Amino acid sequence: MSGTKEILVEKSSEKAAAKAAEIFRSVVCDSVYHRGVCNAALSGGTTPRSTYQLLADQALTDDVPWSQVEVFFGDERDVPQDDVESNFRMVQRTLLDHTPIDWARVHPMRADAEDIGGAANEYEETIRHKVHSNNHGIPQFDLVMLGMGGDGHTASLFPGCANLDEMHKLVVACFIPVLGRHRISFTFPLINAARNVLLLVTGDDKADAVRRVIHDQDMALPSSRITPHHGTLHIVLDSAAARLL
Ligand code: 6PG
Repeated sequence: MSGTKEILVEKSSEKAAAKAAEIFRSVVCDSVYHRGVCNAALSGGTTPRSTYQLLADQALTDDVPWSQVEVFFGDERDVPQDDVESNFRMVQRTLLDHTPIDWARVHPMRADAEDIGGAANEYEETIRHKVHSNNHGIPQFDLVMLGMGGDGHTASLFPGCANLDEMHKLVVACFIPVLGRHRISFTFPLINAARNVLLLVTGDDKADAVRRVIHDQDMALPSSRITPHHGTLHIVLDSAAARLL
């Protein structure tokens, strides 16, 4: 393992969102400059919305080469794409609709499919087809954005779920007992092959999980398994989330 980790603590959730937007822009520009494309997996939930809004506000005036960004999703809920709970819908409305993105390069997960396992396999195929693999045959994203729940879950990898130890599949369909719902999610082998992982966590209610993940490296919490093997883990926190460190 030769990955690197940086932990950035910002005074407020607004400043943390701005820092995450800055990292996003820099990774996209750097990837497109060096490889002509940026393969990015975006995260859902509430926390990244402010980051997406900041990126959207500047999308027409900044120098981010949006048309060369290939957009994937790290996880998705079992709802149609136009449902209020859909991660795709949130990202589309807060960010993508405001950018000159090439829609042929946007890849939503079909987590509402009757055969959700088949949809996960199809998504893995799409990734294998689009994203160049490393020496171990694992597609190497330029950027994987992640959030974290108060229970330490990340993407849709929840405590106690069998898919935490998945070694072969890169994308899985899973039933999440605490939610009583199905989701599709990236697995750790795929996440940890990325060149950059951006974990953005804000809010007082996440402080205990942040301490258990960053300080204790408590493996009962799935987020403790975010360890890019050869990439950089950028952890961006606000002071409320970092208060127990
Ligand atoms: C989702 C996610 C999930 C999320 C965390 C944090 O679809 O919900 O991708 O992993 O990042 O649950 O969610 P919040 O940002 O809403 O706290």
